[in-house]
Parts: sequence; structure tokens; C-alpha cells
Amino acid sequence: MSEAARVLIVDDDPAQSSALAQMVGLWGYETGTAANGREALDRISEAETHAVVSDLNMPVMDGRRLLEELHRHGNSPPVIILTAFGNTETAVETVRDLGAFWFLEKPVKTKELRVILERAVAQRRLVEHSERLERQLSGQGVLGRMIAQSPAMRSVLSLIQQAAPTKATVLLTGETGTGKEVAARTIHEVSPRRAKPFLAINCAALPETLIESELFGHEKGAFTGAVERRSGCFELASGGTLLLDEIGEMPVPTQGKLLRVLEDRRVRRLGSPREVEVDVRIVAATNRDLGAGIQAGTFREDLYFRLNVFEIHLPPLRERREDIPLIATALVGELNHRHDCRVTEISPDVMELLRMQAWPGNARELRNVLERAVILCGEGPIQMEHLPAGFAGASRRPVPAMGTVVLAPGMTVEEAERELIRITLEHARRNRTRAAAMLGISVKTLFNKLKQYGEDDGG
Ligand SMILES: Nc1ncnc2c1ncn2[C@@H]1O[C@H](COP(=O)(O)OP(=O)(O)OP(=O)(O)O)[C@@H](O)[C@H]1O
Ligand SMILES: [Mg+2]
Repeated sequence: MSEAARVLIVDDDPAQSSALAQMVGLWGYETGTAANGREALDRISEAETHAVVSDLNMPVMDGRRLLEELHRHGNSPPVIILTAFGNTETAVETVRDLGAFWFLEKPVKTKELRVILERAVAQRRLVEHSERLERQLSGQGVLGRMIAQSPAMRSVLSLIQQAAPTKATVLLTGETGTGKEVAARTIHEVSPRRAKPFLAINCAALPETLIESELFGHEKGAFTGAVERRSGCFELASGGTLLLDEIGEMPVPTQGKLLRVLEDRRVRRLGSPREVEVDVRIVAATNRDLGAGIQAGTFREDLYFRLNVFEIHLPPLRERREDIPLIATALVGELNHRHDCRVTEISPDVMELLRMQAWPGNARELRNVLERAVILCGEGPIQMEHLPAGFAGASRRPVPAMGTVVLAPGMTVEEAERELIRITLEHARRNRTRAAAMLGISVKTLFNKLKQYGEDDGG
């Protein structure tokens, strides 16, 4: 049995709060009282609180402000609002807009309060439990999809955990493929926003008008091609997290508009006279040196300071080789699933080779090498021959063929190609994806060639 949950009663009328506290105490809870929202915040910061039962109208800081403050701090206990009869509309608002757990009309029906309180405490315990699990896992070097064995990456995990519960803007920096997007998703997944959307927009992939329309939305007819009204990422990610990927590539005029949104927390759709309020947590990512961008005039300094509230740098893979075996093993599991393969392990000599590589493309490059290897291997352990030709240090043995290609002068290129495709397909047990990978051509090209040779019937 876990220790008693603590319930905080907030009411400016001491007679009311002590009567309520007494009753709640009889149900087996530890209790505390506060005379207004400000005091309540103090009590909550002093001791672990599992649920709050609060009046709505109070001097100094009312129930609504209390909810706002708690919400701002992220990880807060569930709040049950008590409201005078006839005030139901405001109460519904507090639940819908301010995230109260529940509201009850006064005079409070004992039975009702008891049930709701039980539920609130149970929810709180569940959150606590999953947070504890997460902490344990991150101690073992896993958080969400992120793997971190090396000291450098463990401190990245710890920064993510510190940033996640807050609303602070996070700037993720690091070379290409170091896991910035994985980190952004992890921040969202361990944050109180996890139930709300996570959206990513790649600022490098779109021309200026389209980026702005993607970000802020547009009204019908706002520009050529805007045939319908559309919400932007800021609206769509409401309550959740928005990743501004490759922020260093954002056009300067768009940077100015973004800065305004970050300052006012309001967006205006292109072509609209109205602004709407948005509640979105921003994570920005870049593999560029933004400082150099500022020097060169391609990045606004004021935006840089807005974004750089909490910087997390992802070190390159070559500076944390201890992570390679763990990441590689996890990737093989994922890729097995994706390609319907049954690779059992990475053989020790291959693993050693993987550990020694320079990996200029970091984890993404590792993933690409493993993807090819998993497809070529199909089942059993990944061996040297499954690594790409010219892979530093890899001794290339030819793939053992089940059949033999007889090459002789007088044979046409087409005949030789046809023969090579035939035995490769045989070797790949007629798995076209594998065969194409072994031949170094796309599945589509393989398909076309088979068709050309009249051999496309059923693989
Ligand atoms: N710490 C990690 N644990 C597990 N997998 C990882 C980790 N870091 C990266 N990966 C893998 O590497 C791939 C590339 O990572 P990601 O897309 O996050 O890189 P990035 O930093 O955003 O790169 P770019 O700057 O090119 O956009 C991911 O799909 C994931 O499979
Ligand atoms: Mg990325």
C-alpha cells in the first residue's frame, strides 16, 4: 500500500476549508489548506500534492489564475473547482479552457466529491508512476526513441528531461543525422503536451509564400493558388509542439513574422484581418552555425535570442562511439520489422567496424548502411559481405551464388544481365526488394527489366 495521498483545500473562508479538510481527512487523505491561489502555489511547491480542491472566487489570486499558473509550470496536480450554484458556465470554461480536472457545484455533495477525488488522485499516481519509469529508463540510457549510453548523450537526455515539462523554446543544434528530430519528438513525448499534436515543418524545403502559409495558414484567395482557406501549423499544433526544422534556412522576411508570433503568441492567417491566440511549444533545429548566419545577415539576431532559450547540442556520432552498438542493435530491430526480415544479430567483426567508422552522416548514415545490410542479409547475422563495397576496412567476399553465371565472349550484355538477375533472384528467394538491393538497382528498374525479359509473372 502506498502512503496516503495529499489533498490541498483552497478557500478564503476558513470555516469552509477546515470543514472540508476534516471530511477529506476522514476518507484517509492527508490534507492541507490555503486561503488563496498564491498560498496554494506555495503549499504545492513545498510538498508533493496529489489533488487540489479549490474555490473559484478568492482574493489575491482566484481559482482561475491558480489554474493558469499551475498550467504554466507544466507538471501539476489535478484541480477540482468548487463553484457557487448558478455559476455553471464559468465552471465549464475552467474545465475546458484552463484544464481543471472537474467542477462541482456548492453545496458539495459528499459522495460526488469523494468519487471525483479518488479519480483525480488515481490519475496523479499514474502520471507519477510513468514519470518514475521514464526516469529509470533514462538512467539506463533510453528515453522514448532516444538511445544514449555515452556520458555526452546522457547529459543530452537529462537536458531533455529538464526542458520537457516547461514551455521553454528549445534550440537543437548538431550535425546532420545526429538525431535532432528524434530529440524533438522525445521532448514532446515526455512533456505534459504528449496527448496533443506534434508537427514538424522543414523550413528548407519550401519557398517563402508556402512556408508562411504552412506556418500561419491562409484565407481563400490570399495568394495565387490559395483556393481554400487553410489553418497553419501553429493552429494545427494547438496545445502541442511545433518543430521548426532547419530554421537556419528560413527566409529573412519569414523570420520577422515568426518573431512576432513568438512574442505575441498570436497568429494571423495570410489574407486575414484577424489574429488568433495560439498555445504552441516551439522546438527549433539546425545543423548550421546560426552565429555565422547572423554575421552574414541571413539570420536575425533578435530571432536567435528568442529561440535560444534552452540550447541542446547533439554531439556527432564519432565523439560518442559507445552509443553505436546500442543504436545499431535497436535500428536492426526496427528495420527487421519494416522489411519483414529476421536478422538475428550484427556479427562482432561487423560491429567493431561500425564502431570505428567516421560517420560524417552520423546516425542517419548508420541507419542507411544497416537498412541495406538487413535487406541483403534477410535472416541470421549481418556479416561483412552485407556492408557496402568500399566500406573502410570491409573485406569484400563475393556473395555466394546458388547458381553460376557463365560469361563467355560472344554473349550479349542483355544475356549476361538476364542471367545475373536470374541467379540473384534465386539467391534472394525471389524477394524482389532484396534482389534489387543486391543488384544495386531500384525495385522499379528490376521490375521493368523482368517485364522486358517476359519474366514478370508472379515474381
Ligand atoms: N539517439 C538515437 N537513438 C536512436 N536512434 C537515433 C538516435 N539518433 C538518431 N537516430 C536515428 O537516426 C536517424 C536520423 O536522426 P534525425 O532525423 O533525428 O537526424 P537530424 O539531426 O534531424 O538530421 P538532419 O539535420 O539531417 O535533419 C533517425 O531516423 C533515427 O533512426
Ligand atoms: Mg532533421
